[in-house]
Amino acid sequence: MEITVFDDYQKLSAAAATLIAAQIYQKPNSVLGFATGSTPLKTYQYLVKFHQQQGLDFSKIISFNLDEYLGLAPNHRQSYAYYMQKHLFGQVNIKQKNIYFPTGNPQCPQEACQKYQQHLKELGPLDLQILGLGANGHIGFNEPANELNTSTFIACLSPQTRADNARFFDSQKEVPHYAISMGITSIMQSKKILLLAAGTQKQQAIKKALQGNITTQVPASLLQTHPFVNVFVDNQAADLLT
Ligand code: F6R
Repeated sequence: MEITVFDDYQKLSAAAATLIAAQIYQKPNSVLGFATGSTPLKTYQYLVKFHQQQGLDFSKIISFNLDEYLGLAPNHRQSYAYYMQKHLFGQVNIKQKNIYFPTGNPQCPQEACQKYQQHLKELGPLDLQILGLGANGHIGFNEPANELNTSTFIACLSPQTRADNARFFDSQKEVPHYAISMGITSIMQSKKILLLAAGTQKQQAIKKALQGNITTQVPASLLQTHPFVNVFVDNQAADLLT
C-alpha cells in the first residue's frame, strides 16, 4: 500500500484526478470502477475540467459503478446512476453504452446481480477501482460482517451507513435499506485500487483499514493484501495514523 497524506481535500482530489487521467492516457480503453458519495466529488470535478480543457478522452472508457440503491430508478435524484450522470458521465464523452451499473429498480434483484456479475466477467478485471471508505470500514456496500460476499449481491445497509447517508435524502426514512453492490472479490481483482478518505469522520476507519488487523469486520482492511493500492488521505483523516 502506498499512503499519501495531503494538506487538504482539494489537493487530494487534484492528485486523485491526475492519477485517473494518467491511467486513461496510458490505456484509453481502460475499465474503470467508480464510487459515489461525497469523497470523490471534487475528483470528478477535476476530471471534467481535464476533459474540457485538455481533451481527456473518455470515448473508449468502460465504467462499472460499485453499487446502486435498490428501489431507486436511474432517474431518481438520489440514485447513484443519477449522481454519476450529474457529476461526471453527463459532462465527458463517455459512451452511454459503456456505462455499467447494477440495476436499481429491477423486476428480479437476484437476476440483476447475475447480469452485473456477468458484465464484470466479460469486461473485467477492472484496470483501476476508485473507492471511498465508509465510517464503519465498508467499501462498496460490503458492510462489516463475519463473511463477505465474493460476487455481486444484495446488500443490507447497516444502521450506521443509513444514518451517514441520510444527509443526501430529505429524511432518514427515505434512505433505502438495501442496495446491489459489487462483491469483495471483484474489487480485490482490480489491477489497481485508489482508496480516498477525507475528513475527521474517517479517522477511525482509515486507522483500522490501514494499520489494524485484516478482518472482514473492517472490509477495507482486506486492501492491505492487494499488491497495488494507492491510498490518498487528507490531514484530517490521517490524524490517527502512525
Ligand atoms: C459509494 C460507495 C460507498 C462510499 C462510502 C463513503 O458508491 O460505494 O462505499 O464510498 O460510503 O461515502 P462518502 O464518500 O460519502 O463518505
